[in-house]
Amino acid sequence: MADKDASGLPGEPRAVWDLAIRLFHWMLVILFCVSWAAAKYRYMTIHLWSGYTVLSLILFRILWGLVGSSTARFAGFVRGPAAILAYGRSFPSRARNPHLGHNPMGALSVVAMLTAFLAHTSFGLFAVDVDGIDSGPLARFVSFDVGREASRLHGITFTLIQLLVALHVLVILFYLVYKRDNLIVRMFTGRARFPATFDPPAARLRSLWLALVLFAATSALVWLVIANPPRF
Ligand code: HEM
Ligand code: HEM
Repeated sequence: MADKDASGLPGEPRAVWDLAIRLFHWMLVILFCVSWAAAKYRYMTIHLWSGYTVLSLILFRILWGLVGSSTARFAGFVRGPAAILAYGRSFPSRARNPHLGHNPMGALSVVAMLTAFLAHTSFGLFAVDVDGIDSGPLARFVSFDVGREASRLHGITFTLIQLLVALHVLVILFYLVYKRDNLIVRMFTGRARFPATFDPPAARLRSLWLALVLFAATSALVWLVIANPPRF
């Protein structure tokens, strides 16, 4: 009898997400919670270091979207309005419309989340709180008013991230419950089974070492900016 998993589909699982994407994703989830809790309870040193790591991760993910595995590349999953609308029409149906990686609508939310995180962490670098005590490492290069404006935008982009994450999790639960498509498990294992009628070319996975070198480079860049900031 053919081997089956929770998807109910027979056959060999296919590689979807490389280890770098999976580590990126779950580190982002953990650090988002750490940054949020640290800001709420005013552990600002933890907030800042957790935030710098988020910024390094986002910069890494942008590079990985250019040179990483085929399913991580923006050129491979960001699609035009026609493909998004076509996918949108199939969205309410319970029938699966499988993709090896992000579908055209999911791609929109990925780009929106990455952009919102990049803006949020960048504003954080310049943010200053109302009494001027808690501030980002670049706040001393701008006026107090500009620092307060950066803080306001840090707050607005935080609300935007909360909304995007809520939508992200709701859609993934919708796939799980309504479409019986468990996207979550493949974000852990990196592999998934697909219907026999779906037979795309195999994903081309890049080495984890390349990902580690790129993450070291983006961390070093963030470190250089915070430890030895440019003058404005
Ligand atoms: C702070 C919370 C979260 C953030 C910021 C976040 C962010 C992201 C991002 C940026 C991606 C794109 C991955 C990439 O291509 O690099 C993604 C994909 C994904 N996330 Fe999350 N995520 C969060 C929480 C969750 C949770 C709680 C789950 C599970 C219930 C989840 C499940 C997934 C799955 C399954 C995908 C792949 C979707 C697909 O198959 O296209 N995420 N997430
Ligand atoms: C480069 C990374 C980051 C830096 C430099 C930074 C910096 C700061 C600073 C200086 C403040 C105090 C401003 C004020 O109270 O008006 C602050 C507040 C805050 N940050 Fe960040 N942050 C970063 C990343 C993040 C991330 C990833 C999150 C996501 C959870 C986040 C969420 C918040 C929240 C919710 C507050 C408001 C706290 C309050 O209302 O009192 N920050 N941040």
